Amino acid sequence: SLPVPSVQELVSQQLHTVPLRYIRDEIISSSSHDDHSPSVPLIDMAKLFHHDSQASELQKLHSACKDWGLFLLINHGVSDATLGNIKKQTQEFFELPLEEKKLWAQKPGTLEGYGQAFVTSEEQKLDWNDMIFLKALPIQNRKLEFWPEKPQKFRETVQNYSEDIRQLAVSITKFMAMGLGLNDQAQEFSQGFQEGTYDVRFNCYPPCPQPDRVIGMIPHADMSGITLLLDATDVPGLQVLKDGQWIFVEPIDGAIVVNIGQIIEIMSNRIYKAPDHRAVVNKLKERFSVVTFCYPNPSVKIGPASELTQSGSPPLYKTVTLAEYFQSFYNRKLEVSFIDCLKI
Ligand code: SIN
Ligand code: FE2
Repeated sequence: SLPVPSVQELVSQQLHTVPLRYIRDEIISSSSHDDHSPSVPLIDMAKLFHHDSQASELQKLHSACKDWGLFLLINHGVSDATLGNIKKQTQEFFELPLEEKKLWAQKPGTLEGYGQAFVTSEEQKLDWNDMIFLKALPIQNRKLEFWPEKPQKFRETVQNYSEDIRQLAVSITKFMAMGLGLNDQAQEFSQGFQEGTYDVRFNCYPPCPQPDRVIGMIPHADMSGITLLLDATDVPGLQVLKDGQWIFVEPIDGAIVVNIGQIIEIMSNRIYKAPDHRAVVNKLKERFSVVTFCYPNPSVKIGPASELTQSGSPPLYKTVTLAEYFQSFYNRKLEVSFIDCLKI
């Protein structure tokens, strides 16, 4: 892997044009969507828990997972205080001088730490993004050498946030299992997330003088079970591909974005889909996001729930271990989605 420059540092040099390595061939439309665009579904978890409203909210959840693979969630149980803290700590970290941030820099061959997504060639285009990537849960996965000690409350805040996020991942996957109509296997579906793996990526998207020529994060679908995303600023940036159109996921204060990953796509036998999404950048405003990738426990086998593969719907994917699942990612042929390697 090759080192990539800090985008924040580039921006501090007051460039009027962007270095060529960031410039995309296509124009990236980062204008606000028009009135005719469909808007991202909003799910209220309080209604899912409440007896009178459960059935209708569950139907909304099911449609959101099927038709979008992504939705905004409110009343999710993560407190305003916890959300406020993680937003603040994220902003404060990225506002530190570069030298301070570099104390927590990635090391060759590690994914974790402060830096940028790796590239494998000098020609490869770069995303307009700086980040810190940390393995948060289970606790034995943590490598504290990459966990910032400044701002002062950073570690404690990430600790608390990741535990609340784990709770949420268990609850929301439980409701997904109900939405899918699972009976005997409903428990199993969400159980893996109780003892799951939680990795957190803190993103910084600095302002860019040519926002329609660069991209904050290239289009992709997540490999996680689910991804729980928090906008730490009120700057729109996340877009989801819906019926061939990039739709903004406008930040709503207090909401968390739930994004289906390819593991749930497999487990649901493709009733739920992992959507393509990307991040665009702003001309004037810096944007921060906190993205938690939630994986089931490595001992859980990844495969279509057998209750969903009866009555004329054959399994669309092989059942594999989490290790084999990741292996299929590394073995994929370029330009082929790795999930296709698991197709039957
Ligand atoms: C992601 O896809 O992981 C990040 C997108 C975002 O920062 O909004
Ligand atoms: Fe993503």
